[in-house]
Amino acid sequence: MNSAIPDSSPALGGVLDVIDAGVIVVDSARRIVVWNGWMAQKSGIGANAALRRPLEEVFSGLRTDRLVQAVSDALAFDNSGFLSHTLHPSLLPLRGSNGQPLLHNIRIRPMASNGQSYCLVQIDDVTETVRRQGVLRDRQNARYRAVVDSALDAIVTTDLSGVIQWMNNAAQRQFLYDADEAVGQPIDLFLTNPADWPSGQEQDDAARRITETSGHRKDGSVLHMEVTTSQWRSDGRVFVTGILRDTTERKIAAEALKRLNEELEQKVEERTREREDVLAKLFNAQKMESIGQLTGGLAHDFNNLLAAILGNLDLLRKRLPDDAKFRRLLDGAIHGAERGASLTSRLLAFARRQELKPKAVDIAALMSGMTELLERSLGSSIQIETHIPVDLPAVHVDINQLELALLNLAVNARDAMPFGGSLSISAACDTFADGATVPDLGGGDYVRITVADTGVGMDETILAKAREPFFTTKGPGKGTGLGLSMVHGLAVQSGGALRLSSKAGQGTRVDLWLPRSPHEATSESNVVQPSLKLASRHFRILLVDDDALVRMGTADMLEDLGHEVVEAGSAAEALTLLQSGVGLDMVITDQAMPGMRGTELATQIGRKYPGLPIILATGYAELPNEEDPGLPRLSKPFRQEDIAKIIDAVIQRGDAGAKVIALRR
Ligand SMILES: Nc1ncnc2c1ncn2[C@@H]1O[C@H](COP(=O)(O)OP(=O)(O)OP(=O)(O)O)[C@@H](O)[C@H]1O
Ligand SMILES: [Mg+2]
Repeated sequence: MNSAIPDSSPALGGVLDVIDAGVIVVDSARRIVVWNGWMAQKSGIGANAALRRPLEEVFSGLRTDRLVQAVSDALAFDNSGFLSHTLHPSLLPLRGSNGQPLLHNIRIRPMASNGQSYCLVQIDDVTETVRRQGVLRDRQNARYRAVVDSALDAIVTTDLSGVIQWMNNAAQRQFLYDADEAVGQPIDLFLTNPADWPSGQEQDDAARRITETSGHRKDGSVLHMEVTTSQWRSDGRVFVTGILRDTTERKIAAEALKRLNEELEQKVEERTREREDVLAKLFNAQKMESIGQLTGGLAHDFNNLLAAILGNLDLLRKRLPDDAKFRRLLDGAIHGAERGASLTSRLLAFARRQELKPKAVDIAALMSGMTELLERSLGSSIQIETHIPVDLPAVHVDINQLELALLNLAVNARDAMPFGGSLSISAACDTFADGATVPDLGGGDYVRITVADTGVGMDETILAKAREPFFTTKGPGKGTGLGLSMVHGLAVQSGGALRLSSKAGQGTRVDLWLPRSPHEATSESNVVQPSLKLASRHFRILLVDDDALVRMGTADMLEDLGHEVVEAGSAAEALTLLQSGVGLDMVITDQAMPGMRGTELATQIGRKYPGLPIILATGYAELPNEEDPGLPRLSKPFRQEDIAKIIDAVIQRGDAGAKVIALRR
């Protein structure tokens, strides 16, 4: 019998015995009145031993009196109660079938029957449920650990005072500390500024925050991080967990990108400036080129006219009666025409179209020959110093033009020193690799001639324009503005370069580079040949020129020299004349002619009539080097004396050399 309740149904007793839970009922004096089979089995106390005995007596030696207390409360105050195994792990000494302690919860409920107060104590076995929950929890924990440990970012948990409680594998790799070393240390172990880690409890909104900060590793190296923290609670305690993402590489890359951007901007600016510079230079070069072409063409035509004027004036002087007044007028006209000729030659020099006769020139010898001329031109208030090394190699240049160029530079210096000063002319060797720093100059060996004065100098504007043709600050009638243009043209045409350096009030320095000559300067190269005696022999000369005025003037001069002249207005006419069998001793032909040029005519004549001397009259450098047939040349404008000299030279060369001149066939 498991019930001591009077009148209780025997069927009820059966029910109670099959229920899978412990059922105890006590009366108002806490004496046990119901004790089912489950209780007898799990406690090892049979119903007979339990019934009618007070609860506390049956379970004497319990560690807590919570059960007795709860039962008393139910009986006295009609209160229900619940005792959980989590708070009271071993309420009653119950064991499972395997002999292991049985985890259980207890519900206490007051009840009444036949006017009597009772209390129902129901015991539920939760051993299996708790075990299952444990397995589940372990699984969850393992998953949670796997997730956290496989994270690439460092994850660190501290308590609210910032003491490290836990860290994942990534944190160990990132900071180079083992978890054992770091746990228990303050967060300053990782962060440069611990204030970046939340301390103290924060409101929900502020509980999550993101900070850019820096930290350090165990080896002292610094790293940049983005730190995201949040607070959470467990068992009434507040913890902070942070994800500390290493952004060092990103930051370095961003900084490098920023630097690169800045450098790029700077480069773009530089390139733009360079481009503008180059464009300005190009514009200037194109301008100079156009002016050069224009002036070159004009100068060529003027040259022809001046040739005719000078030739005719020469003849007039010879033929007019010896009257002093006539002579003065004629001399004036000749002087004017000569000045015009010198002007056109400067123009041609600027246009780089002058007729150059370059040869190996010894600068030291040239300078010593010029000293007197320079002293005379510069006056006593200017001191002249020359520094030319004795072993200076020869330069490849037209000696007369170089002399003229140096004179131009000296005169410029004189004009810049109205109250005296000093002029220094020096020379030295310069060798440049390709892409030399001097504009217009390719790689190679050069001689640099430097002309420096202590004069007024030039401001930037004047310096930029000084080389332009017709630029002068000397006032109308005083300067042509062609001096430096001529020097520059000569330098470039000779394969060299010119550089001006000057500042207002600080004098001027002009550097003139000329290519070194592969040959030694011959002594006669610098010596002006003594004037030859005019030839006494008279020839029949074929004169070819398309310009009738020039042709007439030249013919007059030749006839005046005693020669017989056959005129041709073109190369074709000349060839026809030659073919007709006119006996001829010599041909003088102009180079620039429409149809066939002088050089081509010379080649044809050379083929058909070998040995017939040919003189080429050229107004400017219209002969590309490869076309130069090596003929004797007569530079326009020429005077009668020049024609006489070249005819003499041609005849002398013929007499002395192997070439036999076919005279009047
Ligand atoms: N040594 C120098 N010192 C100061 N200014 C100079 C010097 N050389 C040239 N210049 C300036 O450059 C300008 C141009 O010189 P350039 O020789 O081409 O012509 P110019 O001397 O004026 O005329 P010209 O040569 O026909 O007498 C001069 O007018 C002068 O302003
Ligand atoms: Mg000048």
